[in-house]
Amino acid sequence: PSAAPQGHVHAHGAAAVPVDAPGITATPFSVPLPIPRTLRPTHRSRDADHYTLTHAPAEEEIFLGTRTAIYAYGGSFVGPTIRARRGRAVTITHHNGLADPTTVHLHGGHVPADSDGYPMDLIAPGASKTYRYPNSQPSATLWYHDHAHGLEAEHVYRGLHGFYLLEDPAEWRLRLPGGRYDIPLLLNDAQFDADGQLVWRMNDFINRRTVLVNGRPQPYLRVAARRYRLRLLDAANLRSFALSLSTGDPLVQVASDGGLLPAPASVPAVSISPGERAEVVVDFSRYAPGTQVFLVDAVAGQLLRFDVVDHAFDLSRVPAQLRQMPGLPTPTTTRQVSLGMDLPTGTFRINGKLFDMDRVDAVIQRGTSEVWEITNTDTMLGIPHNLHLHLVQFRVLTRNGQPPAPTEAGFKDTVPVAPGEVVRVLATFGDYVGRYVYHCHLLDHSATGMMAQFEVVA
Ligand code: C2O
Ligand code: CU
Repeated sequence: PSAAPQGHVHAHGAAAVPVDAPGITATPFSVPLPIPRTLRPTHRSRDADHYTLTHAPAEEEIFLGTRTAIYAYGGSFVGPTIRARRGRAVTITHHNGLADPTTVHLHGGHVPADSDGYPMDLIAPGASKTYRYPNSQPSATLWYHDHAHGLEAEHVYRGLHGFYLLEDPAEWRLRLPGGRYDIPLLLNDAQFDADGQLVWRMNDFINRRTVLVNGRPQPYLRVAARRYRLRLLDAANLRSFALSLSTGDPLVQVASDGGLLPAPASVPAVSISPGERAEVVVDFSRYAPGTQVFLVDAVAGQLLRFDVVDHAFDLSRVPAQLRQMPGLPTPTTTRQVSLGMDLPTGTFRINGKLFDMDRVDAVIQRGTSEVWEITNTDTMLGIPHNLHLHLVQFRVLTRNGQPPAPTEAGFKDTVPVAPGEVVRVLATFGDYVGRYVYHCHLLDHSATGMMAQFEVVA
């Protein structure tokens, strides 16, 4: 690939991301993209696959030749990928080898309250807890991450995150690219000191200048000249991404948080805010072997280089219809949720309130549907927020009075709300009862109080 003819190099877009570690010189696009390993079950029983996972301090070679101290699930900055099958339960026994309490949330998962990673349902240092996931929902790119009350922002920043891919055999007949042509990409950012160690300061987004893809700054990936499915996850605490290809070719988005879109959406750029997922199909057969194609962010520039190395056989496709969306249920109530800063104290809040574990903000009847009207009031300071609801996958009804864009027409669990915007969503609170949180997924905001909780009652 280094012999790529100049004419095939599509390097336009913003400048390369500087590596924000004064003592480190990293050559751009010199390290391969790591693909997180798939975790093997420790055993399988009649009704579930059982896994064990330890979270503990570890070291990762984020920069070539430098050991960076991290917190890790299973030893790596991006934890091992868990592959689940719809209709078959999974249990994960987590051992906490950290000095802090932790709790593990399956983001986007429809799970009972005692397995949801409620922020006060903590695993003490040295202790273990078994989470049980029924996997009764449609296929989707879910992820697991820490949610310990007030500590989640630092824990996730230091590496407590990984993919949980819920697959559905019914989806296979669509013939979207799969297997080794299905690549999870965890995007986040960080600040490093002169020794290549992580610097953690709450809310200091300005200095988190190094963007990482699966834990590496500007890696490369060798690809065959065929279709690939890329599962994009914004796991950054505060940074949103607007992703495009350096060739100017559109991205074909096929799925969002809750799984497949009703139909593929061909877009010049895909935007994701913290917590959100977008799956895109890229057809590298458009490019001759030897071509370099960059995944470019509108702000940070080139994030990942694809080196098209070879022709390949390809039976995959992108069908014109992906999923039949069910009809919209009738809501019983409409709730107002306002996201914004309390100016006198400088704290981010929901409906003017900081999180209080002893206060239930919304009592919801099991099985009912509700409209939540979400507003971002931070117009003066121009601060973006989003809203993530545990337990449910919801539908976007309107954004600023308009029907949702095709990329927002599927099921969602996290929705961005720019300053001044009003987003109406419809959620159905199904079978489980108990307390669940909802919060801004800019994790430095939720960790400092931009969170509330609902209780589903029978
Ligand atoms: Cu991904 Cu409550 O969070
Ligand atoms: Cu926020």
